[in-house]
Amino acid sequence: MSSSLTRRDWLRASGLLTAGLSAGMRIAKADAPMSVGQSVFVDEFAALGTPPETMPAMRARLLANENPLGIAQSAKDAIVKAMERGNRYAWSEFGQLKDLLAADELVTASNIMMSPGSSDILMAAADHYAKEGGTILTSVLTYDDLLRRAAGQGAKIKALPMTKDYKYDLPAIKAAITPDVKLIYIVNPNNPTGTIIPAAELEALCREVSSKVPVFIDEAYIDFYEPADRPKLGKVVADGNNVILARTFSKIHGFAGLRLGYAIAQPDTLKLLKPYTNGDSAVSITTLMAGIASYKDKEWQNHCRAENAKAREYTAKALAGMGYEVIPSSTNFMLFPIRMKTASFQQKMMADGIGIQTRELDGQPYCRVSVGTMDEMKMFIDSFKKVVG
Ligand SMILES: Cc1ncc(COP(=O)(O)O)c(C=O)c1O
Repeated sequence: MSSSLTRRDWLRASGLLTAGLSAGMRIAKADAPMSVGQSVFVDEFAALGTPPETMPAMRARLLANENPLGIAQSAKDAIVKAMERGNRYAWSEFGQLKDLLAADELVTASNIMMSPGSSDILMAAADHYAKEGGTILTSVLTYDDLLRRAAGQGAKIKALPMTKDYKYDLPAIKAAITPDVKLIYIVNPNNPTGTIIPAAELEALCREVSSKVPVFIDEAYIDFYEPADRPKLGKVVADGNNVILARTFSKIHGFAGLRLGYAIAQPDTLKLLKPYTNGDSAVSITTLMAGIASYKDKEWQNHCRAENAKAREYTAKALAGMGYEVIPSSTNFMLFPIRMKTASFQQKMMADGIGIQTRELDGQPYCRVSVGTMDEMKMFIDSFKKVVG
C-alpha cells in the first residue's frame, strides 16, 4: 500500500474497510485474488493491533516505498520561492511542467492531466470504468488500490496468475478479454514483485487490444529503470491508442508527502476522468514549482537511482547469503519468500523498530521491504537475522 498511516489503512487495519468492500464486491470466483486466497493482501498494521502513536519507534521505515534521501535541494529552493506566490492561483505554471513532460513523452500538453499524486488518477479510473459494473482484468500479486475501489463500485476483479518469474502474463491477459472487460490494469514495474515487463511485449499488447478495451498502465516506479531501457508508451498514446499512463513524483523525486502525479492519455479519455478528480487545480503552487525544479534536476534523480541500486544489491546479496531468494527488482523495494507466518514476522520486525510489509500468495508468505539508505538496510539485515533466528 502506498502510505503507512492513511485513514484508509486504519480503516482497513480495523477491518472496517475490508468488511465494507467485501459486502459490495463481486469477484469472479475462479480468479478472485481477494476472496479465494490466491493472493492475500496482509495489512501492515492489522497484525500489530495498535495505534501509530503507541508503536515502538521505527528505526527504519521500509514499508511505503518512499525516497529515504528526501527531496532535491533544487525542489526545496523552489518551494521557498513559490511561497511568495501562494496568494495566486497557479495558471501558466501548469503549462511549464506539462510542456517539459510532453517533450520527453513524445505527446502534447493536451495529453496530460496533473493530480495530487497518482492515487487520484487510479481512483478516477476505478470510479469511471467500474460505474456500470463489468470486469477489470489484472494479475494476482499487484497493487490493489484501483482494484479495491473498482470492486467497491460493483466491478468484478479478474486477477490472472503470474508467470513463473512473477511477471504479468500478457498472453493470458489478451486471451481473457471478453465484452464484459471494461479496463485492463497493469502495474509496470509491478508492486510488490518489483518485476518489469519487456518493453516490446507491453507496447505490442497496448497497440493490439486498446481499440477493444482501454489499457491502464500504472508506471509509479518507472523512474528507477534506466531511462534508455524504459517502455516508451507515450508514443503509443501519441499514435491515438486508448492507453492511460499513471505517473507519480512520490518515488524517485521523493514527493510522497508533497503529492504530485499525472496521467498521460487521449484528451477525450482525460475528459472522462475529469469529473472524478480536481485534476490540475488540486495541486498547490509550491508543489508544482518544486516538481518543475525536481524534474529538471537529472543529477538528483541519477544520484537517487544509483544509491537505491547500491542499497538494493547489498540487501539482495545479504539475503541470498542467508538462503533467501529475492525476486530480481527494478524498483525501490523487493519481495522474497519467508519461512515464518506474516503476522508474527511483521510484529517481530516492528518490535525491533523495522517497518516492512508482507504478502501471501498461494499460502506462501513473503516479505516486501522498501529500499532505504545503506545504513537502514544494514539495520534491516541485522534485525532479520535476529527475527528468523
Ligand atoms: C503501484 C503504485 N501505484 C500508485 C501509487 C500511488 O502513489 P501516489 O499516490 O503517492 O502517487 C503507489 C504508491 O505506493 C504504487 O505503489
